[in-house]
Amino acid sequence: MILEVGSTIVMAGIAGWAYLKQNGPATNDAEKIQRIFANTGMMVKEQGKTKTIRLQKKRTVEGGTEYVYQLPLGMSSKQVQEAKHVLEDGLNVRHEYLEFNPSDLKNIRWNENVFPQIKQMIEPKKSKKEIDIDFDGMLKIRVYNEPLSDYLQWNDSYFSTGWRVPVGENRKGFIYHDFAKTPHIIVAGTTGFGKSQYLKMLVTSLITQQPNYVHLSLIDLKGGTAFQRFSNMQQVEYYGRNPVEARQILQTVQQNMNTMLEKIVESGFEDTREAGIKDRHFIIVDEAADMAQDGICMDIVADIARRGRGAGYHLIYCTQYPTNETIPSQVRPNIGARVCFKLKTNIQSRAVLDEGGAEDLPEIRGRAIYQLNKNIIVQTPYMTNDEISDLIAPFMRKGGPHEQTIVSKTKSNRQHSLEFEEA
Ligand SMILES: Nc1ncnc2c1ncn2[C@@H]1O[C@H](COP(=O)(O)OP(=O)(O)O)[C@@H](O)[C@H]1O
Ligand SMILES: [Mg+2]
Repeated sequence: MILEVGSTIVMAGIAGWAYLKQNGPATNDAEKIQRIFANTGMMVKEQGKTKTIRLQKKRTVEGGTEYVYQLPLGMSSKQVQEAKHVLEDGLNVRHEYLEFNPSDLKNIRWNENVFPQIKQMIEPKKSKKEIDIDFDGMLKIRVYNEPLSDYLQWNDSYFSTGWRVPVGENRKGFIYHDFAKTPHIIVAGTTGFGKSQYLKMLVTSLITQQPNYVHLSLIDLKGGTAFQRFSNMQQVEYYGRNPVEARQILQTVQQNMNTMLEKIVESGFEDTREAGIKDRHFIIVDEAADMAQDGICMDIVADIARRGRGAGYHLIYCTQYPTNETIPSQVRPNIGARVCFKLKTNIQSRAVLDEGGAEDLPEIRGRAIYQLNKNIIVQTPYMTNDEISDLIAPFMRKGGPHEQTIVSKTKSNRQHSLEFEEA
């Protein structure tokens, strides 16, 4: 009896599978992608004829498959990039029977209960494919069978040299940002996805890689405490925690920058590099939206973004509320790189990346888009606070944390000095 019912189910399963194979949903990724293109209207009309994106070739890449397409004239790769989540969802849609393979039947253990075995066979297999879209004249869609690792423990081998600092791991390897080539970065992302952690990792990397030449101005706004642990480092010149301190710090930094630029020009050079000056200054603002209302602050931010490079001044500007107000148009074009964690809306994503995408990132802490010339999805390494403390310990100012001031300028060779109350 059981055998009879079992074999009826099996036969029905086979019939259903055969039917769907012909008429039902696409069964392989190339077909699915083609259907998605058609269903989302990714085609152009030319002389009455419909031209679609055409598959040119397919090849195996590490962890997946790459499909190379030719775009019809008149269609932009951006249209496909923006439909990335539609493609990804489509590739992960589950179809009953779809994954059923009749040859699996030979594995049935008929002497055991066959129902759970058949159920498991016809039940959709979990699929978690991820894709990457690139355009270099040809549209390349890489479909990966496994998602990018959702956690990356920090490892000291991620440190680099010079002003090249860690960003995160993607499928092709570890990605770095080089401040010598692209002087400023915007960091954005909804609260809780790893912005401050990333900034702390950056600060630790800069101190570890360039202890003698890095000069830091750290501004924690919105009640943040990300930079508290660095406030007593030899490399930290200014540290502030509210909009008033932020303004004082920015004004002082701007004066210092002007003095440096004058010095360089008077000596007949164009920039720090030509002048052989190795010192570099980093102004790092966490939760910058809190000072976006302050015109003076924002003018200085724009000025550093515009003129900082020549004087060796770098800006790392971080916000959880990216809008055209918090990242104004005078700042945006002068900041060449972005590290963007998950955002809530397409509009926010556009305010940071000039395109959608950050709203479609999975809800994974440390998952971000690094944008330079193109978008690279990375998992940023997680450096724990204990690791940070160990790494920066050798650079603690003598005298211990009790001498710590909210904003301090304690190096003896400084020209400008700001003193505020004890922390
Ligand atoms: N790269 C990462 N990998 C894994 N977990 C992370 C990572 N970065 C941050 N986290 C976790 O997420 C929490 C929030 O991170 P945080 O940097 O404070 O976010 P944000 O500043 O964006 O609000 C942290 O306490 C930490 O537990
Ligand atoms: Mg934060």
